[in-house]
Amino acid sequence: MPLTVDRVEKFASLRALRWEDRRLEILDQRLLPREERWLVLQSAEEVAEAIRSLAVRGAPAIGIAAAYGIALEALRLGDGPDRVSRLAAACRLLQEARPTAVNLAWAVARMEPLLEAPAERLLAEAQRIEAEDLAANRAMAEAGAELLNERGRVLTHCNTGALATAGIGTALGVIRFAYARGRIERVYACETRPWLQGARLTLWELAREGIPASLIADGAGAWAMARLGIAWLIVGADRIAANGDTANKIGTLSLMIAARHHGVKTMVVAPTSSIDTQTASGAEIPIELRDAEELLACGGHRHTPDEAEAWNPVFDVTPAELIDVLVTERFVLERPNRERIAAALSGLGRGSC
Ligand code: MRU
Repeated sequence: MPLTVDRVEKFASLRALRWEDRRLEILDQRLLPREERWLVLQSAEEVAEAIRSLAVRGAPAIGIAAAYGIALEALRLGDGPDRVSRLAAACRLLQEARPTAVNLAWAVARMEPLLEAPAERLLAEAQRIEAEDLAANRAMAEAGAELLNERGRVLTHCNTGALATAGIGTALGVIRFAYARGRIERVYACETRPWLQGARLTLWELAREGIPASLIADGAGAWAMARLGIAWLIVGADRIAANGDTANKIGTLSLMIAARHHGVKTMVVAPTSSIDTQTASGAEIPIELRDAEELLACGGHRHTPDEAEAWNPVFDVTPAELIDVLVTERFVLERPNRERIAAALSGLGRGSC
């Protein structure tokens, strides 16, 4: 049966995390797609470790996990005398688990004013953050899919789907809706070294829904644009600075530069919780450097000389001028820049600008 817009959300029943019986359960994304194993987490420390180790990943998903981590800690601590200071320490631990995606700090900041409230209030706030992300996914998917007016091929990077959010995804949500509306012929997905989020997670999400997709090597992006008639490059974001510079998975910058050269349109899809007005430009965005070993080995096998060294930044920053359109749950902005983003956030730019 063809994938229609009505069926998109039912199909995307995949979830990155769930609150069950006063515990947080996380689908361990390090094992997908070969194994579906749920981790049961009982403390903020365990949630922070799941975020650090990429068991849960994707900017909105780690924000939601952190919010639940604080609720979990409140339930665990009960009414002890130093409850508030211990919860504040848990907030710092969670916020520092990964540096680049601002959704983490944003979600913790939503929880912090409530640390003196009963645990049930903290839990309700975490659930609200999750529900808002779910609604934002749908709004972005509809708005972004509208922009694809001709049936064509699209390229994406990393995983921005159900596994990275509370719903159908950001960039992948747009792709799901656009496919259901007959506007996408095929999706090309970069493998996304070293953690292979594209190869393991995006291809898995697309295959589950019968959306035609082809894997390409990370280095094949420019050539795919030159040879395959790619219409759009559609990606997510981990942090959008006030001027529109956008941090996303390492490799995004190369794809954006290649897209401009080849006349491929570029779309960044992210909830407003990914916009950080406190960060003036991309130069100020902290970029996570991970262990060299993640790059020097593949699937647990070292394929490099024993003495090899590596530099392993896992995000890069695309200058705003390379972005044709920014889609959020509140507005669609062409050629995002400091003035347009500020106007849109203040409500002046609601709708399309
Ligand atoms: O290291 P990851 O897997 O957490 O990186 C994820 C990305 O870079 C995504 O593109 C981004 O978080 C947007 S997810 C909706």
